[in-house]
Amino acid sequence: MEEILISTGSDANIYMCKFLGKNVVKKVIYRKFYRHKTIDKKIRKLRISNEIKFTKRLTSLNIDVPILYFIDMEEKSLFFEYIKGCTINNILKNIIEYVPNIAKAVGIILAKIHNGGVIHGDFTTSNLMLRNSYIYKNKIYNYKDNTSYEFSDIKNIKLCVIDFGLSFLSSTVEVCSVKKKKKEKKKKKEKKKKKKKK
Ligand SMILES: Nc1ncnc2c1ncn2[C@@H]1O[C@H](COP(=O)(O)OP(=O)(O)O)[C@@H](O)[C@H]1O
Ligand SMILES: [Mg+2]
Repeated sequence: MEEILISTGSDANIYMCKFLGKNVVKKVIYRKFYRHKTIDKKIRKLRISNEIKFTKRLTSLNIDVPILYFIDMEEKSLFFEYIKGCTINNILKNIIEYVPNIAKAVGIILAKIHNGGVIHGDFTTSNLMLRNSYIYKNKIYNYKDNTSYEFSDIKNIKLCVIDFGLSFLSSTVEVCSVKKKKKEKKKKKEKKKKKKKK
């Protein structure tokens, strides 16, 4: 099985290869030799179980994530659907001027994740992808000059989220504070209404 290394991160190597005839990405959580063997094994196991748990959880929240095909616990690797597309990081590097809709789309997806009680743990533009299918369908890429992206309609920016090794469940302070603020506003409105009635 031919494997092409496409990324090396602080925790994992990412390869492109074939799995059951499909193009996949193989994410290998590699051994860190400065860590004690037992601790290293535990941490890598945790990263794998987080990837599994949150791929499932975000799917249930109707958030686009790569399909998880296979897990090799011995090698500490995961086989994901290969997302034909571009990271938001790369898109930002290629646009000429500031596009507020990209930031809005990122905010919308983050709110969706937080409202589902999930903290991504590494929410960076390299962990957000735009599928080519969307880029083609919505004429986001301008093939005439090969550079510009059309992001005028926010509905066109459907992001795919990856990399859940550091994710965890939490009803976070920020989510709670938003809810609290809303509740407080509601209470204030109700108080005003009561006063008016009197
Ligand atoms: N399913 C995927 N399809 C296409 N590219 C991917 C996929 N998963 C990861 N990549 C590419 O590999 C990079 C690193 O993957 P990631 O899962 O974020 O690993 P790390 O934990 O090292 O950050 C991503 O920024 C992206 O460019
Ligand atoms: Mg990443």
